Amino acid sequence: MNSPVMQGLDLKTPAYVKNARLIAWVADMAALCQPAHIHWCDGSQAEYDAFCQQLVDAGTFRKLNDAKRPNSFLAWSDPSDVARVEDRTFICSEKKDDAGPTNNWMAPAEMRATLHPLFEGCMRGRTMYVVPFSMGPLGSHIAHIGVELTDSAYVAVNQKLMTRMGKAVYDVLGSDGEFVPCMHTVGAPLADGEADKTSWPCNPTTKYIVHYPETREIWSYGSGYGGNALLGKKCLALRIASTMGRKQGWLAEHMLILGVTNPQGKKYHVAAAFPSACGKTNFSMLVPPAAFEGWKVTTIGDDIAWIKPHEDGRLYAINPEAGYFGVAPGTNTLSNPNCMASLDRDVIFTNVALTDDGDVWWEGMEQDTGKVPGHLIDWQGKDWTPEIAKQTGAKAAHPNARFTVAATNNPALDSAWDDPAGVPIDAFIFGGRRSTTVPLVTEARSWKEGVYMAATMGSETTAAAFGAQGVVRRDPFAMLPFCGYNMSDYFQHWLDMEQTLLAKGSTLPKIFCVNWFRKNEAGKFVWPGFGENMRVLKWMIDRLEGQATGQETMFGIAPGYSELNWNGLGFTAEQFDTVTRIEKGAWLEEFKLHDALFEQLAYRLPPALLTTRNNLEQRLTA
Ligand code: OXD
Ligand code: MN
Repeated sequence: MNSPVMQGLDLKTPAYVKNARLIAWVADMAALCQPAHIHWCDGSQAEYDAFCQQLVDAGTFRKLNDAKRPNSFLAWSDPSDVARVEDRTFICSEKKDDAGPTNNWMAPAEMRATLHPLFEGCMRGRTMYVVPFSMGPLGSHIAHIGVELTDSAYVAVNQKLMTRMGKAVYDVLGSDGEFVPCMHTVGAPLADGEADKTSWPCNPTTKYIVHYPETREIWSYGSGYGGNALLGKKCLALRIASTMGRKQGWLAEHMLILGVTNPQGKKYHVAAAFPSACGKTNFSMLVPPAAFEGWKVTTIGDDIAWIKPHEDGRLYAINPEAGYFGVAPGTNTLSNPNCMASLDRDVIFTNVALTDDGDVWWEGMEQDTGKVPGHLIDWQGKDWTPEIAKQTGAKAAHPNARFTVAATNNPALDSAWDDPAGVPIDAFIFGGRRSTTVPLVTEARSWKEGVYMAATMGSETTAAAFGAQGVVRRDPFAMLPFCGYNMSDYFQHWLDMEQTLLAKGSTLPKIFCVNWFRKNEAGKFVWPGFGENMRVLKWMIDRLEGQATGQETMFGIAPGYSELNWNGLGFTAEQFDTVTRIEKGAWLEEFKLHDALFEQLAYRLPPALLTTRNNLEQRLTA
């Protein structure tokens, strides 16, 4: 043991930790946060089991009925701590313009002065867990290492499922390897001898999710939930990684990655960006309908992709994560059978309801069982019945309730999901949740047009982020809450990628825009979605293979009705028209919304986007 002693606290650094910068940082942070204990996580199953038991003893976890849901737990958070807090999320670059108008910004020195007193003594009475993790396959040239210091055992066990976490990370780190330091506290110190009064400690009034892109640091205060607290995910793998990617010539994206194999065994890889809670996990685990016998869809990732240009001129992608932190409500065997199978065992559920026989339930599960349970305990620990729900509108599960599960539980996991080299990307898909205007699918005629489509994406908001729901907000590349730098510079980075790839003599991936969510006049979804999205995916593959001609529309190349395989689905040409029609009036209004975004981003906005916009409008009005 090489253990500096800080203010009477033995760091108990394990002998296998050799990284001097890491040891010094843990010592500094221990001195600042003043925890009662330090635990260096080794990532073992024994450690995971012990933490889960500790969480059960503390009342944070409830062990589920082992006969129904083996080795699984349920946590209920504080009702004030249920989602990412975008208005408390900051990008603290030296210059405000480098964060851009879509990010909250504060000067680093000012933010440090704000945070220092909050972190001083913030872990009193608690254990500081040292959580080493690799984002991406251990040792992959595309992967990066982070170390999270947290006073939440809930975070430590979630990180075990969500990342490659544990001892092996120190071997990759060696004595002088680089890591991203991630500081996390729930912001609820305990006085001497004081016990927790709550099973979900957090700070009810003060939250900060802070990123310093230039020094690559993350500091999170006050929340124990999701992307606020599992710092490998949105904070490192998107906000910090996007700034690294810009500097180093690669892409960190809010994208699922899937493999699709045709009956002849030819495999394609697709990366797809959708805003939060638009069915990314469902699409990444899609089960093709019967009409697509012999086709196979396999999951590489469900939320984030790190994509690097390779010497062969192609883009290779890895999923930096090793698990899924997915939205439970709405998940069932119709929307996502593979996901339901993944959740059979070894799961941490957060904010779903508890059944009388010790299992879990959420809205949407009734489609599998044919009925809603007569009695539940809801996510706030209250009795819930269908009658109560009728009277009060109370949901049994919080709309942003989550499951945390290792990727290895997924029956559709791609054999290359852990390949350090990544998989070559053939196509990008961008999609939002739009009840009108945006057609089912179009293909960009050029890289620039694809970047335009992605840059101007809009989506109706959902419960994944705290705030208003159901309003359309622009969400360029589904990265609005996750880009660690100026969005205009981010557009330029994407535009520049075309030249990088062409210079290597490559064929560019195709770019598609989709919308599964168009509604008819009665306000009902027209497109059946879920597994039926395979019909659209197949058309994209036909386009890659040069087997579908498509037809020109204002907004790219679209399939004619006869170009999609309709076997086994009664979907009429009229219905197809409802989801694909481009309405001139709606698009003239849509362009005004694009213009509003471009006005907001005018400083540093790439002129190519304005040119593309004008070309599109000319097509519309021609
Ligand atoms: C998520 C999100 O993946 O909010 O949790 O996007
Ligand atoms: Mn996401």
